[in-house]
Amino acid sequence: MSDQGSRAEVSITASEAEQIRQVLGDLDYDPAGSSAYIGELRRRVYSGFPERLVRLLEVIKSSNSAAYAYLVVDNLPIDSGVRGSPQFGETGRQFKDGVLSENLLAALGAAIGEPYSISHEGLELVNNLTPHKHTRNDYTGLGSEVELDFHIENAAQAFMPEGDTSPLALLLLGLRAAPEGEGRGPFTRVADARLALARLSDEDLEALYGRNFIIRVPYRWRGATPTPRDNTDLSPVLSGPLELPRVTVAFYPDMVLPVNQRARTALENFHREVRAVSEAIDIKPGRLVFVNNRFALHSRDSFVPSFDSNDRAYRWVQRIMVTTNLWNFRSFGKRQERVFDPFLLPRASEPVRSRNADARQPALSEQA
Ligand SMILES: [Fe+2]
Repeated sequence: MSDQGSRAEVSITASEAEQIRQVLGDLDYDPAGSSAYIGELRRRVYSGFPERLVRLLEVIKSSNSAAYAYLVVDNLPIDSGVRGSPQFGETGRQFKDGVLSENLLAALGAAIGEPYSISHEGLELVNNLTPHKHTRNDYTGLGSEVELDFHIENAAQAFMPEGDTSPLALLLLGLRAAPEGEGRGPFTRVADARLALARLSDEDLEALYGRNFIIRVPYRWRGATPTPRDNTDLSPVLSGPLELPRVTVAFYPDMVLPVNQRARTALENFHREVRAVSEAIDIKPGRLVFVNNRFALHSRDSFVPSFDSNDRAYRWVQRIMVTTNLWNFRSFGKRQERVFDPFLLPRASEPVRSRNADARQPALSEQA
C-alpha cells in the first residue's frame, strides 16, 4: 500500500481477493437494499474480510487530518463472464455470471455508512453507469460526449431545507472496458480540494467561505418535492477548517452562480487549482475508487463511447452512494427500501407542504 496523505493506493493480493470472493460469493444481491441484506453484509465484512481492508474502512470514517480524499483499490474480485452491459432500467445480473460486484460495493458501502440510491440515478441500490446513445450530451453518469467537469456530488443538496442529502462518499467499481484498439474509456479525475485551497490567496478563501454563491441542483433533480426549488439561497462553497473542509461546488456549466466579481474570480481560481492538483484514474475492471464527497471533487472526461456487436456499451462502471444516515431522506418517497425518489411524497397521509406531487413527476424515460 502506498500512501501520500490525501490519497492511498491499495493492491489486493490474490489470496485476499479469494477471501472476499468466498465471503460474498454465495450471497443473493438485494437490489432494494433491505435491512436484512445490509445487516448480513456488515456481519460478513467484519467477520470475514481481510484485516487490513477492515482497518482501512475505519480510517476512512475518521475525522482527523489523515482522512483520505480518495482511495484507489486494485485487483478486487469481480464476476466472470461479463458479456454486455445494462441500460437504465436493466439489471447487471443478466450480463455476467453472478452478483459479486454488487455485493462488494454494497458491503463496502455498508461498512462506511448507509448505502442508498436515488431512483432517477439508478433503480437499484447499486447503479450501473454505462454510456447511452440517446443521452450522450447529458451531464450525468449516462452521458459521454460532454465533459462532466469537477464537482461535489449533489452539492446543492447540502443546503436543502429538509436536510443534507448530499452523499458522504461515492464508490466506483470498473466491470468492463473497451478492448485494445476500440478506444479506451474516459478518465475519471479526482482532486483533493485541500491541495487546491492551499494554493489560493486569503482573499480568495474569504470569498469562498462567504455567502456569495447560488448553487443549482443537478438537472434531473429540478422540480423535486417536498420543497421544489432549483437552487440554494446565497450559500458558501467552502465551510469548516481548511484541513478538513466541506466543499459544495460544481464546475460544470451554470451550476454555481457567484454574486459579484470578487466571488467570480475566487471561483475561477479555485477551479483552475482543482484541475492543477487532480489525478486521472482509469476505472478498469477490478479497480475501485472511493471518493470522499466532503472534500474530493471528481470529473469524467468527454469520450466517444464504443459498443459491442449487440449494441452494448463497453464501458461499464458500477457505483454506490453512501450517506451518514438515512434520516434526511425521510422527506423523499421510496421506490424500494433504500431507493429514494425525491419526486414522490413519502406517504399521502403525511402533512408535507407540497401540492400535487404526481403532476411534477416526469416519466422515467425523460429522467434517463
Ligand atoms: Fe458525479
